[in-house]
Amino acid sequence: MESVLHEARKFPPPSSFSANAHIKSFDQYDQMYRESIDNPEKFWAEKAADLHWFKKWSRVLEWSLPDAKWFVGGQTNLCYNCVDRQVKDGFGDKTAIVWEGEPIDDGQPEVRRLTYQDLQREVCKFANVLKNLGVKKGDVVTLYMPMVPELAIAMLACARIGAPHSIIFGGFSASAIRDRVADADSKIIITADAGWRRGKHIPLKNTVDEALQNNDTQATKQTVKNVVVLKRCGNDIDMIDDRNHWWHDLMAQVPEACPCEEMDAEDLLFILYTSGTTGKPKGIMHTTGGYMVYTYLTSRYVFALHDDDPDELYWCTADIGWITGHSYIIYGILPNRVPTLMFEGAPNFPGPDRLWDIVSRHKVTKFYTAPTAIRAFMKWGDEHPKKHDLSSLKVLGTVGEPINPEAWVWYNKVIGSEKCPIVDTWWQTETGGHMITPLPGATTTVPGSCTLPFFGIDPAIVDKNGNEQPANTGGFLVIRKPWPSMLRGIYGDRERFIKTYWSEIEGCYFAGDGARIDADGNFWVMGRVDDVINVSGHRLGTAEVESALVSHTQVAEAAVVGVPHEIKGTGIAAFVTLKGTATPTPQLKDELIAHVAKEIGAIAKPDQIRFTDSLPKTRSGKIMRRLLREVATGKEIKGDTTTLEDYSVLAKLRDDA
Ligand code: PRX
Repeated sequence: MESVLHEARKFPPPSSFSANAHIKSFDQYDQMYRESIDNPEKFWAEKAADLHWFKKWSRVLEWSLPDAKWFVGGQTNLCYNCVDRQVKDGFGDKTAIVWEGEPIDDGQPEVRRLTYQDLQREVCKFANVLKNLGVKKGDVVTLYMPMVPELAIAMLACARIGAPHSIIFGGFSASAIRDRVADADSKIIITADAGWRRGKHIPLKNTVDEALQNNDTQATKQTVKNVVVLKRCGNDIDMIDDRNHWWHDLMAQVPEACPCEEMDAEDLLFILYTSGTTGKPKGIMHTTGGYMVYTYLTSRYVFALHDDDPDELYWCTADIGWITGHSYIIYGILPNRVPTLMFEGAPNFPGPDRLWDIVSRHKVTKFYTAPTAIRAFMKWGDEHPKKHDLSSLKVLGTVGEPINPEAWVWYNKVIGSEKCPIVDTWWQTETGGHMITPLPGATTTVPGSCTLPFFGIDPAIVDKNGNEQPANTGGFLVIRKPWPSMLRGIYGDRERFIKTYWSEIEGCYFAGDGARIDADGNFWVMGRVDDVINVSGHRLGTAEVESALVSHTQVAEAAVVGVPHEIKGTGIAAFVTLKGTATPTPQLKDELIAHVAKEIGAIAKPDQIRFTDSLPKTRSGKIMRRLLREVATGKEIKGDTTTLEDYSVLAKLRDDA
C-alpha cells in the first residue's frame, strides 16, 4: 500500500540544478536519446572524440549477435586517458585521488592526496615493476588488495601495459582466490599484508598463502610465480617463499617513466568474476575502447561532473573489487578530470557517522552508495547525519539493488535536504556502465524506479517468447541493441556466454532481472529471475552457497533461497540435510555458517540454517525452491505441490520452520 502511495509522488529535477547539469531538460534528453538510438554510430563517434586515441577507429560498430566490436581499428589506452592526458594538458597539479584511511589516531584520519602528476609517476613505476616481473601485454594480473591508493595505482599500471587485471574483492576467501586465479591462468598476485576493517586487520597475504597451498592438485592447478605485497598495516607476515616481494622494495628499483601500450579498442582491459546460476563464478570480459567511452560519458552525465568546478569532489563508497568501483571510482571518473575519493574502511567505524564526517570534512559534491547502506543509515538514526554539514552535496546516487521507496525518501530528505537529485542507476557487471538511470536536471524521478534508459540503450520488458509486455505488466528485462561497454564474453567459456545472455530471449541480451514499465515509461526493476540472489547489493549464486555447504564433511545435500531482509535486501536461507551419523545441533549450524564464510567469504554467510530430513523435489528431481522460500519467510505454503516427490518432506519442513 505504502509503495503505491510513494509511486504517485514524482520529483521533478530541482530548477536550481538545471544550470549545473549537462543535460538540462527532459526535451534535451528525449531528443538526444532518439538520435542515439536512430544513429548510434554518429552519436558514439562524437562522444568518443572527447577522449584521446593514438589512432582513430575506421568503423564505430561491427555487430554480429552476440559479438560487438566498437571503435574498430582504433587505438587508445585507458590509463593514458585517466592520467597522462591530464598531465599533458597542464593539470598535473590537480588532485586526482583523495584517499582517507580507516584508523583515526589522535582524532585525525590519515589522508593522502595524489595529483595527476603523482599518479602518473606511481603508475609508471608500478608498470615497470610488473614488466620486470615478466608481465606482458595480455597476461592476467590478479589484485587482492585493501581500498588504498596502491590498488588504483596497480590497476592503472595494468591498463598502461595492456595486462588485463582480475580484481578480487578483499572479502573473498582463499578458495575463491584459488578458483579465480586458476580460471584466469594468472601468474601474479598483487596483495597487501592486511587491510583495515572496523578497527581490525584483514589478513590478506595469509589468505593468498592459503590459496596457493595444495598447488599440486588438478582442481587447484596453480601457476602463480610472483606475489607482490604492499605493507599497509605493518603486520608480521611470512615472506620466506621466494616468489614473495615487497612492493616498496620493487618500487625503489625502477625508473619513473613507462610508455603507454597502444591498445586496440577491442583488446581485453579486465576480467571481473561475478556469480551466476552455477557454482562457478564467471569471468566477465570488458575491452578497452567501448568501456572507456561509455563509463566516461555515463559518469559525466549521470553525476553531472564538472572539471571546471574547483569544488567538485566525487565519492563512490563501493569497493574497487566490484564493478561499481572499477567503473565509477576509477575508469569513468578520472577521464572527466574530477577528483575521486577513496575510503578504506567501514561506514560505521569508529562511529555510525563516519561517512557524514567524511562528506563534511572533504566537502563531497557527488555521493554514490547502495540501498543496503541507506537502510543501515536509516536504522542507525537521523542524529548521525544531522551532526554534520552536508550542504556541499549536489547529486546522490544509488546502485546494486532495487531501492525501497522509504529508503529513497529518507535519502532525499535527510542526506540531500530535498535539493539533490537522486540517480537510481540500474546496471550490472556485464553491462560495464549505467543502463537505466535518471539524469539530474532532466529526469523526473519516482522513488523506487530507475526511470529511463541512458543514451544508446534500448531496453524492453518481454515475456519468454520475446513479446513486449503492456504497461505495468511484469516480464524479463532485455536490451535489444549493442552498447559500447557491453561484456565481450565469459573468460574461457563461450558456450556459457551464449547460453546465459543470448539464448533466453531471441535476438536480445537477457539481463536476468524481472521488471515492468509504468504508464510514464519508467522502469521498475523487481529483482533477479534466475538463481542469483542480491545480498547487500552483492551478487551470489544460490548454487555457489550450496556447493560451499555440501563441501562440509557432515552435509549430504543443501538448498539455498533468498528471503527478504530488512538491511541486506535479500538474506540467505539454507536448508541442509546431514549425512547418516551427523546430528543437527546449534553448534553445527554455527560451524556451517563459518564454513561458508571460509569457502566463499563473509558476504555469503547464511542468515538461517534449517536442518531437514530431505529436500522437497519434483518427480524429475528438481528442488522446489518456491516452497522453501515460503517456509523460510514463514508464509503459509500455497500453490501447486502436486509434483512433490514426497509429501512428508513438506510436513517435516513446516515443523522445523
Ligand atoms: O538485479 C540487478 C541489481 O544488481 C544486479 C547486478 O549485480 P552486479 O553485477 O553485482 O552489479 C551491481 C552493481 C552494478 C542486477 O541484475 N541491480 C543493480 N542496480 C540496480 C539493481 N536492481 C534494481 N535497481 C538498481 N538500481
